[in-house]
Amino acid sequence: MSPTHPSPDPTPPTDKPHVATAILSALAEEQHGLIELLHQPRKVRHAGRDFWHGALHGQLVVLAVSGIGKVAAATTTAALIERFGVQRIVFTGVAGGLAEGVQVGDVVVASAFVQHDLDVSPIFPRYQVPHHGKSRFASDDALTALLLQASRDMLAQASEARPFPRARVHQGLVVSGDRFVSGAEESATLRATLEAAGHAALAVEMEGAAVAQVCHDYHVPFASVRTISDRADDSAHVDFTRFVEAVASRYARNIVERFLGLL
Ligand code: ADE
Repeated sequence: MSPTHPSPDPTPPTDKPHVATAILSALAEEQHGLIELLHQPRKVRHAGRDFWHGALHGQLVVLAVSGIGKVAAATTTAALIERFGVQRIVFTGVAGGLAEGVQVGDVVVASAFVQHDLDVSPIFPRYQVPHHGKSRFASDDALTALLLQASRDMLAQASEARPFPRARVHQGLVVSGDRFVSGAEESATLRATLEAAGHAALAVEMEGAAVAQVCHDYHVPFASVRTISDRADDSAHVDFTRFVEAVASRYARNIVERFLGLL
């Protein structure tokens, strides 16, 4: 075919559901609880991933699992925007606590993200994303306010029955990188190195900064909430597994339902 006759788009716009909100879950366990709540659920397989769309609390949503790590999360995010035309993205998942006072069972709502493993120095300053001129990608203020409210409401509810009665909601910087941080020394070094560059981080995970960068490029509002599953120390892998099985999906479902009710 000549260059003046490009091949047709394999996914024409008429194919796009009129969806507003994407809920990205870090883990399949978290997504299961949400799929159960979907009205008229429809599964679409795309780019090796399952995307569920339907209605949840009267809102049109697409549910997706981000995949683990920055590349998987960026691909899922681009698919949500390009293929499903979502207008906003909210991430729910777990993270390791970095700052003092950010304990297992606490909830961290991200105000901004940094990729802690990005280093193109000396060409660009450490942590800076090339051709963006910055290291930090901010969350959307309005969505973040709703996630804060939803998280506080969740923790305030039925406090006697909660596994972490002293759990708190924090708001601040979350850092992402392609490694599971599971050593007290590693965690302390990570925190100190970031802090020396002016990035005082509350928590570490593996996807948020990638999703934030893609959303920034597409001008799609993004916000994220993470429950602290571990302290990114020597017992992180044990705490993480236990937490995911026992708590994470319940928290994610509860926060998402409240968030959609506030939207
Ligand atoms: N997600 C939950 N805990 C984590 C950790 N310790 N490191 C990276 N990602 C995490």
